[in-house]
Amino acid sequence: MDLMKQLLDVVNQAKEVFKAVKNGAELQDKKAEFLGKKGIVSTYMSQMKDLPNEDKPKFGQMINEIKTLISLEFDEAKSRLDDEAIKRKLIEEAVDVTLPGRSMTPGSKHVLNRVIEEIEDIFLGMGYSIKEGPEVESDLYNFEMLNLPKSHPARDMQDSFYITEDLLLRTHTSPVQVRSLLENTKKEPLKIICPGKVYRRDDDDQTHSHQFMQIEALVVDYKANLSDLKGTLLELARKMFGEERQIRLRPSYFPFTEPSVEVDVTCHKCNGKGCSMCKGSGWIEILGAGMVNNAVLEASGYDSTIYQGFALGMGVERIAILKYGIDDIRALYTNDLRFNHQWK
Ligand code: PHE
Repeated sequence: MDLMKQLLDVVNQAKEVFKAVKNGAELQDKKAEFLGKKGIVSTYMSQMKDLPNEDKPKFGQMINEIKTLISLEFDEAKSRLDDEAIKRKLIEEAVDVTLPGRSMTPGSKHVLNRVIEEIEDIFLGMGYSIKEGPEVESDLYNFEMLNLPKSHPARDMQDSFYITEDLLLRTHTSPVQVRSLLENTKKEPLKIICPGKVYRRDDDDQTHSHQFMQIEALVVDYKANLSDLKGTLLELARKMFGEERQIRLRPSYFPFTEPSVEVDVTCHKCNGKGCSMCKGSGWIEILGAGMVNNAVLEASGYDSTIYQGFALGMGVERIAILKYGIDDIRALYTNDLRFNHQWK
């Protein structure tokens, strides 16, 4: 039958059209062109009314078969498009597992913090507690209460950054000790360390910095004498620089301590024989210390006939430089990661 041939042609036509389609939306449009209400198949359907009645069922059946065939072509095209979409997605999202990974350098503790924690641990182990205070201090706490009245020549030992007549960046952490003594209204014995940043008007160079870290210790008790201080210093020196270390005390001067001493420790590089680290002497100066001046005790309300005390103070950078053989203090602040990571 001629009509049947025409209809099979339509199926072939649909097959070709569906094959050329590039995406799902276009495929739907094309489907409508063939199977939609105003599509090609409907146009043939509308011819049914002109046929003799006995041919109508056969014709209807034929149209239905054609619809099914076109639908099958549609399904095939649809699954082809779906496959292509998945393949495209797989290619786009592919991960090249052969690429080298990005390296992640683990962080490390800064050598200064390391030394601060070490010193804190040593003192915590001896029963001290840690006290902190403000970096902007009053002249009263930074100097006057520490037996350094205005115009005292020893103020020159600590050239200062003033903010106003009476306010300055603290030159040492001793004002935290003054605050702690004043706070202690019951005047009980006390054992504290005060770590923190301090500031002095120095020109920065290999061994000087206008800002550095200090840790000071203070003990006030009914009995806290020079030999207690010496024992504390020896313990500190050995824990920091090795159990074989010896110390020696040399007379010195600080307005807030009397007597005052400079503390040397036997060189940890050459064990006291003499080397470049200790400049041939076998000894390295590490800190200043002394018995708390009665004037300081009295100013904070401690009766100096009942109480005595000792104090010591060290620059953390100096300890770090000695312990780790660092040749320039500025390396501690410039945050070159190659420097920071080498102490892991
Ligand atoms: N405060 C002193 C300084 O910064 C250090 C020190 C503390 C000396 C305690 C003796 C006793 O120079």
